[in-house]
Amino acid sequence: MSSQGDGAAEQHPETKLSDNSSTETDATGGAIITVTIGATVPTGFEHTAAEEVKEKIGVDVRISKDRGRIYFPITTDKLFQVHLLRSVDNLFVVVEEYDQYQFKDSKEETLAELQELASKLPWTNALEVWKLNGSLKKRKAHRRGNGNKVKPNSETTDATVADTEQQELPEAAEDQTKPETTPDIEGSKQESEDAAPKAKVLKFRVTCNRAGDKHSFSSNEAARDFGGAVQEFFQWKADMTKFDIEVLLNIHNQEVVIGIALTEESLHKRNISHFGPTTLRPTLCYGMLRLCKPQASDIILDPMCGTGTIPLEGAIEFPSSFYIAGDNNDMAVNRVVNNTRHIQKRRAEMGSVSGLPIDTVRWDLCNLPIKTSSVDIIITDMPFGKRMGSRKKNWDLYPSCLREMARVCRPGSGKAVLLTQDKKCFAKAISRMGGLWRKLHTVWVNVGGLHAGVYLLKRTGAVFGQTPEDVYESRGIVNTHEKGDDKELP
Ligand SMILES: C[S@@+](CC[C@H](N)C(=O)[O-])C[C@H]1O[C@@H](n2cnc3c(N)ncnc32)[C@H](O)[C@@H]1O
Repeated sequence: MSSQGDGAAEQHPETKLSDNSSTETDATGGAIITVTIGATVPTGFEHTAAEEVKEKIGVDVRISKDRGRIYFPITTDKLFQVHLLRSVDNLFVVVEEYDQYQFKDSKEETLAELQELASKLPWTNALEVWKLNGSLKKRKAHRRGNGNKVKPNSETTDATVADTEQQELPEAAEDQTKPETTPDIEGSKQESEDAAPKAKVLKFRVTCNRAGDKHSFSSNEAARDFGGAVQEFFQWKADMTKFDIEVLLNIHNQEVVIGIALTEESLHKRNISHFGPTTLRPTLCYGMLRLCKPQASDIILDPMCGTGTIPLEGAIEFPSSFYIAGDNNDMAVNRVVNNTRHIQKRRAEMGSVSGLPIDTVRWDLCNLPIKTSSVDIIITDMPFGKRMGSRKKNWDLYPSCLREMARVCRPGSGKAVLLTQDKKCFAKAISRMGGLWRKLHTVWVNVGGLHAGVYLLKRTGAVFGQTPEDVYESRGIVNTHEKGDDKELP
C-alpha cells in the first residue's frame, strides 16, 4: 500500500486554485487546521448563502462558476458553526481544487491521470476534519439520545463506485483515517489477526458530479477509476450504501474539486415531518425569507402554505416576527399543525419553553379574513399548475391572489416574495395590477428540475380600490375594466 505522503504531495501539473489548508498554532499550542469548506446551496441563492456565512462565521465566500456551490475557509474550532448554517444543503471539506484542469484528449489518458491523482492528493487535513465532524455528530446524536442512526447521503449523485445495500452509517471509525493504521486486506491478514483490538477497515464510496460537454469520459468512468485508485491507496473497502466516508469528485468543465462529504443527509431536510406533494426545501424557504428581511413585530403571511415550510422556517429563524399560515386544503392545514407540533415537541425535549410564533388557518386566499393594509410581508410558493392546480386555473387564480395580497399588504412599505414557475401567467397578472405592486428583483431558481422565479415585489403607496384594475369581483364589486387596458409595471 502506498504511504499517505501528504506533505510530499507532488505539485500537480494543472493550475491549483488555492492552497486548501494550512496549519496554525493556537494560544494553547494546539494545532488548529484551516481548511476550505464547500457547500451546495439552492441555485440562485448563492449570494444569500454567502451573506449568511459572512454574518455567522465572519469569512468571505467564493462563489463557484458551478451554480449552487460556495466555498469558504474555516478553522476547525468553527466546524460546528458550519452545521448551523440555514442556507446550505450539503457540506464537504475540500481536499484539493483545480481551476483549470487540463484534461487529456483521450479517455484512457485522462482516466489514467485521475488514477494517479488519488495518491498525490493532500488528504490529511481533510481526513482530520472528517474525523472531527464524525465526533461532533456523535455528540449531537448522544444529546438527542438516539444513538448514531444517520442515513447515508441520499442526495442526487451522478455516479458512484461501490456495491449496493441500503444501510445506516456505522459508528464513526475514529482513529482509522490514516492509511498506515488501516490493515492491508490481502497482505497482512496474519498480522491483523494477531493484533488486538482488530482495526476496522473503512468503507467508502466515490461520487462523481460532472457538468460540461467537453469531457471524453463519463461520470461513471471517472468515479470507477478514481475510486479504484483511492481504494488501492488507502486500502479502504468500496461500499455504495454502508460507507463511512464519501469522497466527492466534482467536475465542472475545467474546474475539478475533490472533497470529503461532511453531511450524510442533506441539511435541507429539517423541520418537516409531515410532507405534502410539493413540499419546498427549507433552504430555499430560508433564502426567500432573507430576501424580504423580516423585522421585529412584522406580520408575515403565507396564504398558500401547503405543509408550512416557509412560515415554519421563518418562525424558527426569524422568531421576532409573527407568521400566519393559511391554505384552502384541509390536508395541508393538518400537515402544518402536525409539523408545528413536531417541532414544538422537539424543542421542549431540548429544554426550550418558548412556543413558535405561528398561527394556522384554513382560508381561500382570494377572500382573506384579514384587515386591509395590515400585513408587512407576504411570502408564498404559488401553484405552478403542474403537480398542484393547473395552468388554466392559474389564469384566474394569479390575478385574484395578487389583488387580494395587495389589499391586505401595507401600502408603501409592504413586500411580497412569490415563487412560481408559471412565469408567463405571473407576468400578465402583475401587469394588470394597476401599479399596486412594483417588481424589485427576481432570483432564478431550480425547483425539482424546474426553472422558476422568486419575485421580490414592493407594495407601492397606491391605495387599494381606487383604480379600475383593483376593483375586486369576489367582494361584490363588478370589474368594469376591459381587456386591452393592461398597464406595465413602473
Ligand atoms: C405549491 S403549494 C405550496 C407548497 C408549500 N410551500 C410546501 O412547502 O408545502 C400551493 C398551495 O396553494 C394552495 N392553494 C391553492 N389555491 C388556493 C387558494 N385559493 N387559497 C388558499 N390556498 C390555495 C394549495 O392547496 C397548495 O397547498
